[in-house]
Amino acid sequence: MRKNIVAGNWKMNTTVPEGVELAKAVVAKAGEVPASVKLIVATPATHLVPVAEVVKGTPVGLSAENCADKEKGAYTGEISAAMVASTGAQYTILGHSERRQYYGETDAKLVDKTRLALDNGLGVILCVGESLEEREAGKHFEVVEAQTVNVLAHFTAEDMKNIIIAYEPVWAIGTGKTATAEQAEEIHAFIRKTLAGKFGAQVADDTTILYGGSCKPSNAKELFAKPDIDGGLIGGAALKADDFIAIAMSF
Ligand code: PGA
Repeated sequence: MRKNIVAGNWKMNTTVPEGVELAKAVVAKAGEVPASVKLIVATPATHLVPVAEVVKGTPVGLSAENCADKEKGAYTGEISAAMVASTGAQYTILGHSERRQYYGETDAKLVDKTRLALDNGLGVILCVGESLEEREAGKHFEVVEAQTVNVLAHFTAEDMKNIIIAYEPVWAIGTGKTATAEQAEEIHAFIRKTLAGKFGAQVADDTTILYGGSCKPSNAKELFAKPDIDGGLIGGAALKADDFIAIAMSF
């Protein structure tokens, strides 16, 4: 049975003290969320150690927003999967569209990053999603399929136990423009079908697929009611503990 997950992606927001306060506010309200919904906060790398202290012994999981495609060594400024794991984090986001767009994250790099994350015991939240031009050109299925397959072709059904997919249409991220629940469901069902083709029905059925892109308390219920939408990867609304918790209570 797949899990329902609501993960907050803080992106490059909050100082360390502000992030610690935000994590404390999430932990304080986490008890209001049904036990069947897993909460995760994905914080900047600088915040992982202090936030790990805050979430320790609580149901709130901790994620990085990225990790390096190399194991270790002379890669100034990079943070390895082993380093992320050593903070106490249990997950990392990989392949976010902002990383693909601004930092040259390719599918090939994502294969290496995913391998290193899994080898270091991290769960991976792998992001896929089409741009506005790609959607307008009717290429959204093709793009999402390629992003999914290009990375996951290198992994096994066993690996999939630790991989979560996040569908984030780029045109809906931070724009206030949400995909309709129908548009999101259509792609989620398609991703699940793609997974079934590669790994079989059981793996497809067991994989959590999150929606991201202007998900907020006012639209989460409709999105989460869809059969193939298993939760959300939340950006802007995750910076307010009340909104983040309200989204998680929309199941
Ligand atoms: P948003 O971001 O909720 O601010 O649109 C989602 C994401 O990029 O993870």
